[in-house]
Amino acid sequence: MAAFEGEKKYLIGGNWKCNGTMASAAKLIADLNAAGPIPDHVEVVVGVPALHVMLTSSLLRKDIQIAAQDCGSVNKDGAYTGELSPGMIKDAGCTWVIVGHSERRGSFGGDYQESSALVAKKARAALDAGLKVMICVGETLAEREQGPAKIEAVVCTDNLGATKGMFTAEEWATSLSVAYEPVWAIGTGKTATPEMAQETHAMIRKWLVAEVGAKAAAAVRIQYGGSMKGANAGALLAQPDIDGGLIGGASLTTDFITGCAANCPRSV
Ligand code: PGA
Repeated sequence: MAAFEGEKKYLIGGNWKCNGTMASAAKLIADLNAAGPIPDHVEVVVGVPALHVMLTSSLLRKDIQIAAQDCGSVNKDGAYTGELSPGMIKDAGCTWVIVGHSERRGSFGGDYQESSALVAKKARAALDAGLKVMICVGETLAEREQGPAKIEAVVCTDNLGATKGMFTAEEWATSLSVAYEPVWAIGTGKTATPEMAQETHAMIRKWLVAEVGAKAAAAVRIQYGGSMKGANAGALLAQPDIDGGLIGGASLTTDFITGCAANCPRSV
């Protein structure tokens, strides 16, 4: 199938989280616009606050796509106060959406407690609206300390398992990515070592092979997230199952382009 063919591009996602004003977003956009070329084997997407999507879509260079950081769980407009439907997000100029970020799953003790089932439903609704989707997964430090079986239970059986049977192999290959973000590495400056990250990425790939087949599984980009920046991106991205990044802090600077996107190795 044509959609499965061709060179697999690295997927470098930025996550601005809940940061900025109109003025600071415009300044960051201007900086990214001037940050130099993006190699042709790299796809770059920035996840911006919903209120900054319109500004970003009118000012940002066209070789960087825009993602929303969340979306509603049904693909229709209506009586859903405070919600943003996937269709609205697409209409405003986004091509991607991030779902299931650990900050929304409640891992920092926040006010949101999104379940894996809800995250899967959001991903389905977003695909139905024609958006591509980054599904975030990851374990806490307490879970990691219980060993690889526990990590697999959280990341594969629970986080990804909730999507079982919901997407076709072609949807996985063309429109879904998995962002592995160990919770203990997010915003802490503690990065998983390339070997630790690779080990979990390989588990995720194995789950995908079993679920959607080897061909689609090989096409899915598995992004690493958690204190990725220019100084460590090259070593992480050199791992065989690390196909990109989801970058928070460093996406608020030009390091996102010059250190991360520009550092993707030539052969995947
Ligand atoms: P970080 O955030 O790069 O600041 O650790 C990553 C993320 O939460 O997506």
